[in-house]
Amino acid sequence: MAKYKIAWLPGDGIGVDVLDAVKIVLDAIELDAEYIPGEIGWECWEKYGDALPPHTVDLLKSTDCCMFGAITSKPNVKGYRSPIVRLRQMFNLYINMRPIKAFEGNPLNYNNNIDMVIFRENTEDLYMGIEFEKVPDEWRKTPGMERVPESAGISLRVITPEGSERIIRAAFEYARKHGRKRVTVVHKANVIRVTDGIFLEAAARVKEDYPEIEMEDVNVDALTMWLIKKPEWYDVVVTTNMFGDIISDEASQLVGGLGFAASGNIGDKYGVFEPSHGSAPKYAGQYKVNPIAAILASKIMLDWLGETEKAERIQKAVATVMKEGKAFTYDLGGTAGTLDVARAVAGHISAPV
Ligand code: NAI
Ligand code: MG
Repeated sequence: MAKYKIAWLPGDGIGVDVLDAVKIVLDAIELDAEYIPGEIGWECWEKYGDALPPHTVDLLKSTDCCMFGAITSKPNVKGYRSPIVRLRQMFNLYINMRPIKAFEGNPLNYNNNIDMVIFRENTEDLYMGIEFEKVPDEWRKTPGMERVPESAGISLRVITPEGSERIIRAAFEYARKHGRKRVTVVHKANVIRVTDGIFLEAAARVKEDYPEIEMEDVNVDALTMWLIKKPEWYDVVVTTNMFGDIISDEASQLVGGLGFAASGNIGDKYGVFEPSHGSAPKYAGQYKVNPIAAILASKIMLDWLGETEKAERIQKAVATVMKEGKAFTYDLGGTAGTLDVARAVAGHISAPV
């Protein structure tokens, strides 16, 4: 029997292309795993009226972790909720970890010294999906609500001390374990005083347990400017769900864009690992897009499984491919296909040490 059971969910569009690439790399590194395919996404919605059908949930429950590609979500479809957002909540995957690292040789890097890890809270905030098309009548009695027009819709920003503390602690733990020296806490507490007040107070509590690590806090708008101006300053960054979504896409552009942005959705018992990008429908099935984001997501998965030596070998092989500058996809100005890049990475996987 294989050591690991891994749920394999390519999903829609280029999710399929990039997960085929990941498979080539995991085979090259000889991970002792059984990969069990499952379905998720827009096609499931059309087939079953559910983008995350129960048999897929069962599959996840019977495996150690999951590799996920991407899904297509369309706005303004009644009853539809993004299955990846549902998965994060259902399995309590409260950490969304997104490393942003400049690989030498990448022509799109802003500079070669960028190496930060963003920790995005993954279960709360506007993503709870608690929305009202009109203000509930009972709320009308609350002071201040008279300023809200009849025509308004409401989306709730829900932030708890517990949810804040656990993501901030994950960021500090990571910093300690990896010898990082600074944690930057991102918020907008001057405007959203209650919810980001909770987040900042949680940060102050957690910091007490990590005297050796510096902490700073910054408003999210200022951060988006500083990320362009001085990206190499940032080390470990922690924030709430929506801010994390936005700043991590911005940060990815500093090191080559979505083709390099990997993420791990991590809870205490389960993990779902994915490239941060979506299904990019216009490139679906063409095997043209950059698989490095997905390959780096499998690296995060290996770290999480405790296969750190294999994880390091994948990271090094990607670094070598970037340095060589031959197997580049279109986003890097090259002509290599998705699977060419995977084969190049596989070809540079070193012998076990
Ligand atoms: P997207 O990430 O799919 O693509 C935006 C653009 O980024 C692409 O057109 C392409 O130019 C570039 N790009 C993305 N991945 C790339 C790669 N691996 N290599 C090279 N270039 C790449 O975002 P978009 O267009 O906003 O959304 C498309 C669909 O994906 C939507 O239905 C959206 O809801 C969904 N989506 C799903 C996510 C997920 O599965 N976690 C995350 C983000 C969007
Ligand atoms: Mg996003």
